[in-house]
Amino acid sequence: MRSGFRGMSRRLLVTGGAGYIGAHLVIDLLGAGYDVVVVDDFSTGHPEALVRAQRLANRRCDVHRGDVADPALMARALDGVDAVIHLAAYKMVGESMEQPERYFRNNLGGMASLVASMVSAGVCRMVYSSSAAVYGTQPNPLEAIDEDAPLRPESPYGLSKAQGEQVLDWMVQRRHWSAVSLRYFNPVGAHPSGQIGQPPAGAANLLPRALHALMNPGTASARLSILGTDFPTPDGTGLRDYIHVCDLSRAHLAALDALDRPGHQIFNVGTGRPHSVREVVAACQRVTGQPVPHLEAPRRPGDVVCALAAPHRIQRALGFEARLGVDEMVASAWKWAAQNPDGYGRVT
Ligand SMILES: NC(=O)c1ccc[n+]([C@@H]2O[C@H](COP(=O)([O-])OP(=O)(O)OC[C@H]3O[C@@H](n4cnc5c(N)ncnc54)[C@H](O)[C@@H]3O)[C@@H](O)[C@H]2O)c1
Repeated sequence: MRSGFRGMSRRLLVTGGAGYIGAHLVIDLLGAGYDVVVVDDFSTGHPEALVRAQRLANRRCDVHRGDVADPALMARALDGVDAVIHLAAYKMVGESMEQPERYFRNNLGGMASLVASMVSAGVCRMVYSSSAAVYGTQPNPLEAIDEDAPLRPESPYGLSKAQGEQVLDWMVQRRHWSAVSLRYFNPVGAHPSGQIGQPPAGAANLLPRALHALMNPGTASARLSILGTDFPTPDGTGLRDYIHVCDLSRAHLAALDALDRPGHQIFNVGTGRPHSVREVVAACQRVTGQPVPHLEAPRRPGDVVCALAAPHRIQRALGFEARLGVDEMVASAWKWAAQNPDGYGRVT
């Protein structure tokens, strides 16, 4: 049993607990002895993810199906809760450029409504899922970004995350809340059981697309497109800071301990190690023993050359450090993809 979140009854509400990151987190929270309540509207998450998470943890959680912006539902879900971990949001940067109003309504509107429900329920602690997307393009994009960098979101999604943090600034200042914002870099990988992972339908990022290409070698439309090979990087492809979803989940448990302190603490969650697109493709080939069918294509407008976390603040303040490397990210995602080629829809 963990010592964290001291002096409280340890009942947590996880919004978005049926999603990719949320389901991993629910396993860890249940395993650490927390009582867990989940609110999820299953807009992108899956009930089956929660069924499996509870089975893997060998413990139950309370599940409320619905929108975090529904005050009546939230009044029920927040009953007896000590802190909220707020993951529920839409997360596709490209989609947010096409449909900004959906992102403002769900991400910003959801946050505003959740905060009001928490005030009504007397709950004043939150761990918030923020994103590296709040940083946008920095003056020296090849340098690691620390938390004091100016926020320059370049999409409605990034703006919604930055404004969620600002909502927390005000709740801390005016209502004396304790809050922790975690700015995730690039979460990838899957649970070591192979039972929980990122469903291919929701995946816009490199690793799931590379594995999809690997699993469908004869399908031209499944080939991986390497978007941009003329970036000013050693191999010409973009650099990202990938973090294993299991490491990311652990960062939330560390963040819960930080809720003992008043104020709004903001942390990057990454490894501090950059990997290029070609390096990830090479890792996929190394781990699976198969070549990744791919083609090279021009850059997408808006893609940044590099997004690399300076991970030192969370190391110093919370003692959190990512442990898992790229091969473990690929191997776990490959196991999940091979066992669940259609995500949670069809189980082989
Ligand atoms: N996965 C990433 O690459 C990444 C990177 C940075 C930040 N984040 C943030 O992490 C959080 C979780 O991301 P994820 O990858 O698990 O995404 P996901 O889409 O798998 O999970 C989001 C969950 O929230 C639920 N949800 C969405 N809107 C809701 C609402 N209004 N009410 C109730 N439930 C709702 C969905 O059904 C889903 O289960 C999000 O806030 C996202 O912005 C994700």
